[in-house]
Amino acid sequence: MRRVIPRGVRRLRARTAPPEPTLACRAPFTSLHVDQFGDTRPCCQSSRVLGNVADQTLDEIWTGESLAELRTAIAEGDLSLGCEHCEWAGRGGRETTYAVRFDRDRLPEPDAGPTRLELAPSNACNLQCTMCNGDWSSSIRLHREKRPALPRLFGDRQLAEVAALADGLDEIHLFGGEPLLMPEGLRLLDIAADTGTRAVITTNGSVFTPRVEALLDRPGIDLVVSVDGTSPEVYESIRCGANWAALQEHLDRFQELAAAHGNRVDLAHCLMTSNWHEFPDHLRWAAGRGLGVYVNDVLSPIEVSLHHLSPPELDAVVRALRARQAEVDELPEPWRATWAGALERLEQTLRDGVDGGRHAHLGQLTASHADAAAPDASATLSPVAARLHARYLGPQTSVVLVLDDDLLVRTVRADGDLARFELGDLDRLVGQPSAAVRTLLDAPDRPDARTVLEWHRDLAVEERRYDLPAGTRSERRTIAPAGDHLELRFDYWLPPTDADEDAAIRSMAVDGAIVELVIEDGRVAAIGPDDLARDLGLRPEVGLECTMPTDIVVPALADPPPAFSAEEIEPGLVAVDLLWPDGHHLVVLARVSAERTFVRVGRAKPGPDEG
Ligand SMILES: C[S@@+](CC[C@H](N)C(=O)[O-])C[C@H]1O[C@@H](n2cnc3c(N)ncnc32)[C@H](O)[C@@H]1O
Ligand code: SF4
Repeated sequence: MRRVIPRGVRRLRARTAPPEPTLACRAPFTSLHVDQFGDTRPCCQSSRVLGNVADQTLDEIWTGESLAELRTAIAEGDLSLGCEHCEWAGRGGRETTYAVRFDRDRLPEPDAGPTRLELAPSNACNLQCTMCNGDWSSSIRLHREKRPALPRLFGDRQLAEVAALADGLDEIHLFGGEPLLMPEGLRLLDIAADTGTRAVITTNGSVFTPRVEALLDRPGIDLVVSVDGTSPEVYESIRCGANWAALQEHLDRFQELAAAHGNRVDLAHCLMTSNWHEFPDHLRWAAGRGLGVYVNDVLSPIEVSLHHLSPPELDAVVRALRARQAEVDELPEPWRATWAGALERLEQTLRDGVDGGRHAHLGQLTASHADAAAPDASATLSPVAARLHARYLGPQTSVVLVLDDDLLVRTVRADGDLARFELGDLDRLVGQPSAAVRTLLDAPDRPDARTVLEWHRDLAVEERRYDLPAGTRSERRTIAPAGDHLELRFDYWLPPTDADEDAAIRSMAVDGAIVELVIEDGRVAAIGPDDLARDLGLRPEVGLECTMPTDIVVPALADPPPAFSAEEIEPGLVAVDLLWPDGHHLVVLARVSAERTFVRVGRAKPGPDEG
């Protein structure tokens, strides 16, 4: 049962200032960070997953071996167990690391739980910001990436665990998704309110309902509002779906409520290629409103990352910003410090180029998972579907770019019939910054380009498709360290032609013989040859009602029913495997579309490696 502290006696546990930090980072000793996949780390920057709340309790993770090992390492000043980001950022001085954000955390008593929880209970979000992705925003996932929704992991059990830990907590930090939009976020804020726990919410600032207003109307609730532009045009072009005027109104209300209760409102700002020119204006605007600014270093996606510009490009950006130093010098200290820190990190990238620490920070293209091979689509298919898939793959080519230390393309290797892929002259890529290569290799004039397949958050893989006159060009992009350099690999393939499909299924059929049938408007429009159709147990009847290709195949030999698997090996292309106890074995390939379905059926050759 939830313990309710009456409003009048709610207390906020005092955050006592700890002594000067002796630890490289306090996070592993004070904090758990749970992401929208349930993966739990000491902080959002760490690459070390300590456990997952779907199958472990927060307490198990907190007292687990993985965290104990990390604490030992950190106590010895060793940042190699997933803390590469702070190791990299720390080269410019510890004050520019993420670790300093934990320096004021209270260390818990021995055997006590964490004093800070950072929680992304889901990815539910209403916006589609340009630098974000579908792992963070359900809206991007659905509309931009066309990927299936993430399961909701943060349920009653996890909420109860947070409530049980709340007495020892000094702070619950919510992010998302959009925490003020999601039911789990609001329930966590109830828990924080009921237990007198300080809450910090990273929000896009677009939601201000009466329920949100009531939740914010108390002491001990701080906001970090993400604002990535300073003019309406830039803001709305980055924070797609947000409205600048509405943001101003919400900020006014947030600030009024905060002032009434002694709470804080700060801003988070993604500094990137699309808004760096407004950075001094942003700081001036924020200072005018009295809002502190945290700068998010955007390292992924690389197209918008300043840190992935070529050195000459980044140099030009830093010079242009430095030329406006006088404007920032007029601002009070916290904003000057924000400016200094952000510029220092950009200059550090210029100075150090790309070396070990940075390899791990090609954003989501985490080279720390270098030994994980690109996922093989056929690996998840049934044996028959996998064999069909392997035989059926149409024209393919790969472009491999070797990057030098400055992330400029040093060499290009390619094979295959390149002209069919509309990739242009690949020599033009040599000397280009890797960030530009993605755009250069995009299908020209294809606003319809879209990511449709999987985007693997742990593997450096992204898959995209483009509609070209030659058919849908599919593309898989991978990045991997190879020895002392990085390789960007682009695999392309075009849809197989009808002849490719025909050859694939014939190669799996006894004697290469197949029955072809066409289904239109839910009926068989054509089928043949008749004798083979009968021999295979099909009903060679034109006009027969059927919605699925297997309706034709299964009824005639349905008793006993066959073992059955049907898998989509490409969008619209379904491989079916039917095996009866008596050994009767059919393989089916169906090209399904709204207008007509074309089905090929053959008696499957025995054994996995024939043909
Ligand atoms: C993922 S958002 C979730 C909370 C909320 N929806 C928001 O926008 O503030 C958390 C923070 O990550 C920042 N962010 C989004 N995409 C980023 C990226 N590619 N690199 C670094 N920070 C990013 C956002 O600006 C925000 O401050
Ligand atoms: S509001 Fe936050 S979670 Fe939503 S798309 Fe923007 S950055 Fe991503």
